Amino acid sequence: MPAATPKQDTYNDKIVRQFTVMAVVWGIVGMSIGVLLAAQLAWPVLNFDIPWLTYSRLRPLHTSAVIFAFGGSALFATSYYIVQRTCHVRLFSDRLAAFTFWGWQVVIVCCVITYPLGITQSKEYAEPEWWIDILITLVWVAYGVVFFGTIAKRKIKHIFVANWFFAAYIITIAVLHIINNLALPVSMTKSYIVYSGTVDAMVQWWYGHNAVGFFLTAAFLGMMYYFVPKQAGRPIYSYRLSVIHFWALISIYMWAGPHHLQYTALPDWVQSLGMVFSLILLAPSWGGMINGMMTLSGAWHKLRTDPILKFMIVSLSFYGMSTFEGPMMSIRTVNALSHYTDWTIGHVHSGALGWVAMITIGCIYSLWPKLVGRKEMWSIRLIDTHFWIMTVGIVIYTVSMWIAGLTQGLMWRAVNDDGTLTYAFVESLKATYPYYYARAFGGLLVVAGMWMMGWNMFKTWQQSKQWHEQPVLAVPEAPTAPATH
Ligand code: HEM
Ligand code: HEM
Repeated sequence: MPAATPKQDTYNDKIVRQFTVMAVVWGIVGMSIGVLLAAQLAWPVLNFDIPWLTYSRLRPLHTSAVIFAFGGSALFATSYYIVQRTCHVRLFSDRLAAFTFWGWQVVIVCCVITYPLGITQSKEYAEPEWWIDILITLVWVAYGVVFFGTIAKRKIKHIFVANWFFAAYIITIAVLHIINNLALPVSMTKSYIVYSGTVDAMVQWWYGHNAVGFFLTAAFLGMMYYFVPKQAGRPIYSYRLSVIHFWALISIYMWAGPHHLQYTALPDWVQSLGMVFSLILLAPSWGGMINGMMTLSGAWHKLRTDPILKFMIVSLSFYGMSTFEGPMMSIRTVNALSHYTDWTIGHVHSGALGWVAMITIGCIYSLWPKLVGRKEMWSIRLIDTHFWIMTVGIVIYTVSMWIAGLTQGLMWRAVNDDGTLTYAFVESLKATYPYYYARAFGGLLVVAGMWMMGWNMFKTWQQSKQWHEQPVLAVPEAPTAPATH
């Protein structure tokens, strides 16, 4: 065997740092656009009559920036970090990993340029035109090669459960992306999706729902299963439950997509199937949430002093809440009330901000000092302030949207004795304004917290002014039990 070079003896943390920094940058950008959108809904004059600044063009920019740029960069960072630590090897290929970083950033910049110009496929969460989709595919395949290549050369026989979640997410997103984006290009700015009518809707929401299931859920659960035990200093509450959680989640999620298309031209039985699978989904979701929370058993006192754990536990609470609310909203009669209203937006952000953003932020706070060779972040108090300001911001956001949604739904269905509508649409809009102001304020608090995070990370780095490379851990002689149950 050739002698190990010094490079092989360290983990590739450069790539982890690059993606971590960009996650925070894109988090600030994407959430600021969210605040602008919230403000535009409250004060339409903020559209400025400039086409590329209008709500309709910026909305997809917000969703792509927060999901794929912020969330995606964080997932690249943490999956690369975790797979190396749990397999006790350096990444399979530094070059390919670097390609995924630069490729992903180019994809994001292309979206930032094309969306405001109105160049999109008009498919939610799949807006990029065909040539950007091809670049995404190339980056994703490279990601798969780096990730699975690292698993293949692992020095530990057991594949830690977080890697299973990441593996499912990488494979599923590849399949979803390719199938949903099959299109006939006619120019650089225009293509036609190959599906039409109901089939198009079905494929789109099979994609959309599983993007939530595998991008916004499974992958972040992978993050959770590594960082929560690390931060709590305890093994996962039940390793067996985490494996059951994994298989149950990935086999049920696939079938729940039709709950986005209740009362549409989709066959009735397909809508019912979506509803039933959504209700069943409650069980594995809560299994995972409880497993994460109970990891703290015996260490609950740490919540008093460790704001990073607070981020993680509150994120799990939001995960529990949104995965209870989702199945309820998939019940057809409930959906008749919630669909088209801001209730959906409240649900989205209790999942996206409460679960996704909070777990990401907690994990980055846990990760960053290790990447810059420090024991802890520059200011623990600032993390605590961030925690509170963000929690209050999210509560204001989601609660105001829930009230707004219920108000809208009830006003739209109210009828007089003679069968005419009680309220004109514009009256429901007027009733919504106070909640739009509140949401914009809540969003502002969240963005303020993101700036605190950026500042804290910068100061932590400034203390050492060096990039730390951790040595690859020696393989334990006997496998250590991964959990107590
Ligand atoms: C400061 C934080 C944020 C603010 C102020 C904000 C604001 C908004 C606004 C105003 C909309 C449009 C709502 C509508 O059309 O009625 C929206 C949509 C959306 N946002 Fe956010 N957002 C924030 C953070 C996030 C994060 C972190 C994520 C994901 C990780 C996210 C994911 C989404 C999604 C998926 C939609 C589309 C929802 C749908 O179509 O039903 N947002 N956001
Ligand atoms: C058991 C888990 C879940 C179920 C069964 C579920 C179910 C639902 C339902 C029924 C809707 C409304 C569809 C409509 O009326 O248009 C919805 C919308 C949505 N949910 Fe969930 N949800 C779950 C968890 C989550 C989580 C954890 C997140 C985020 C991390 C999330 C993100 C979204 C988004 C982004 C939408 C809006 C899609 C759109 O119309 O653009 N969901 N979900």
